[in-house]
Amino acid sequence: MADSVPSRELRRQFGDIDIYLFDQLLRGRFDKRWRVLDAGCGDGRNLTYFLRHGFECFAVDDDPDAIRHVRKLAAELAPVLPHDHFRVADIAHLPWADASMDAVISSAVLHFVDDEAHFGALVVEMWRVLAPDGLFFGRLASNIGLEDQVGAARRRVRIPDGSDRFVVDEAMLREWTDRLGGHLIDPIKTTNVEGKRAMTTWCVVKTSAGK
Ligand SMILES: C[S@@+](CC[C@H](N)C(=O)[O-])C[C@H]1O[C@@H](n2cnc3c(N)ncnc32)[C@H](O)[C@@H]1O
Repeated sequence: MADSVPSRELRRQFGDIDIYLFDQLLRGRFDKRWRVLDAGCGDGRNLTYFLRHGFECFAVDDDPDAIRHVRKLAAELAPVLPHDHFRVADIAHLPWADASMDAVISSAVLHFVDDEAHFGALVVEMWRVLAPDGLFFGRLASNIGLEDQVGAARRRVRIPDGSDRFVVDEAMLREWTDRLGGHLIDPIKTTNVEGKRAMTTWCVVKTSAGK
């Protein structure tokens, strides 16, 4: 039987979900956070579980093909959701009201920005749509553990895997967490892939006092 293959069954349930987002699910971070925005959704690999399980999903990407793909996925897995939950737009100008989301996912997006001002514009806009007690989940390239090869953070740089990325470091993420008035719900964690790239997980909750 097809579903007796563990990887196939897991993929049916979760798609190709980011493993650190999966970790957040397992730890209950989405138990009471039903309105989920995937900002820079790509092909929607992180939405499969949420679509299948009755979450009020939203997604945005500036690539029309990505949104076409995600609308198709949503039509299959959550046909009750209206098409306009999935929008072609720049994350810097989200088409949703303040405090309208319980969670915002930013997976492999923020390292494409040009500079720190651009980074700030996207982060502040994602923060705007988060409700009090909302979760911001970020996965992004950093220089953590690769300082010798990559150099200073807060700029675009060629990382050892050959790609160009805007890289952050812990000080910058802590500074932005404070600036937003959020609190880190987890330690800042980084995966170092054979010294070729470092991907950092940044999870911030918006306190009621959060700006
Ligand atoms: C590497 S893909 C990641 C897709 C998905 N989040 C994932 O984890 O598989 C980056 C995506 O972010 C989108 N993107 C990057 N900057 C954006 C922006 N400023 N506004 C909207 N989408 C953006 C790109 O179009 C692309 O689909």
